[in-house]
Amino acid sequence: MASINTVLGAIFVASFYFCGSLAFFPPGPGHHHEGAHHPPIGSAPIPGLSTDYYRLTCPQADETVAPILKKAIAKEPRVAASLLRLLFHDCFVQGCDASVLLDDAEEVVSEKNAIPNKDSIRGFEVIDEIKAALEEACPQTVSCADTVALAARGSTVLSGGPYWELPLGRRDSRTANMKLANKNLPPPNATLHRLIKFFRRQGLDKVDLVALSGSHTIGSARCVSFKQRLYNQHRDNRPDSTLETSFYHTLASACPRAGGDGEIRPLDLVSPSRFDNSYYKLVLEGKGLLNSDEVLWTGRDPEIAGLVKSYAEDEALFFEHYVSSVTKMGNINPLTGHDGEIRKNCRRVNQEI
Ligand code: HEM
Ligand SMILES: *[C@@H]1O[C@H](CO)[C@@H](O)[C@H](O)[C@H]1NC(C)=O
Repeated sequence: MASINTVLGAIFVASFYFCGSLAFFPPGPGHHHEGAHHPPIGSAPIPGLSTDYYRLTCPQADETVAPILKKAIAKEPRVAASLLRLLFHDCFVQGCDASVLLDDAEEVVSEKNAIPNKDSIRGFEVIDEIKAALEEACPQTVSCADTVALAARGSTVLSGGPYWELPLGRRDSRTANMKLANKNLPPPNATLHRLIKFFRRQGLDKVDLVALSGSHTIGSARCVSFKQRLYNQHRDNRPDSTLETSFYHTLASACPRAGGDGEIRPLDLVSPSRFDNSYYKLVLEGKGLLNSDEVLWTGRDPEIAGLVKSYAEDEALFFEHYVSSVTKMGNINPLTGHDGEIRKNCRRVNQEI
């Protein structure tokens, strides 16, 4: 009797979960996520994702990723930054579903051509190499969305930043959304008020904004991304008065008023390939490279400015908040269960047979 009860109980529980997953995650591509109406994201676990998701199906996933990352970063340290940024640009556009990796195709308008991405996001060859190795080790098992997340986490750690327990189990979209990429990715000249709104749209708060902006402790930006600050900050033909003077002069000599838009400058001029808290120290000194960096300090929001100061003084606090915020970002609106697919090639959707 007890065993029959157990079986019935198991069937009840299983059907409950089945109905639950149908109710909360309607299957099929297209209408699964617009970004605005997902449930609030906290530190609570996301149904369908777990840190040991590949324990039985691909226990060697992380060991497969690590050596490829190490080699790529040793060859070019900036690759770590580029891969971390890919997670951001993936997750802010219809959730962390590897939509950012899709190339133009008959049914796909690639996000790679959206304004914030074009001639800017990079690291796709490294993702391809990692995915090929994962396919070799565990065919059709590890999604491209999880590959992006593993690459971002590994890149952070290899650059000297914190490690975090990474929930896995995301699946890959069969769609991309270039318009949503233009709408949801914040521009570098955004005001603080607008930055807060861009993050809130993703269920992220002010702490997340300040902590995740600390990703700019590694990597570079093109002149075109901060030129307005040098020559025409308030449409007045004058520089941004919050730029520290000597920093302004170095930037202006690297980025003339006309031309040179593709030249790059480090986001953190002290330690451009080390994931540390020097970004915040620079922001306090008027040496944040992007407008979106400097306004965290100058934007007259006491909570935000207070966090910048705290992270500048206490790297351990920055790392602690970063781990929590980057986990939240990585959990934005994933495809789970039977939604989406496990792409074989991250650049295109699987062909139906
Ligand atoms: C707060 C709003 C943000 C804005 C406005 C912003 C904007 C930018 C811009 C304009 C660049 C330079 C692109 C170029 O010139 O080609 C950049 C680079 C970068 N961003 Fe952000 N970003 C923001 C938040 C984030 C977040 C949340 C992350 C990661 C979690 C991130 C990671 C990076 C990294 C690592 C780079 C360097 C990439 C490389 O060197 O290839 N950013 N960002
Ligand atoms: C930011 O730059 C864009 C493109 O150059 C421009 O259209 C927009 O007005 C700028 N925004 C602000 C607040 O300066």
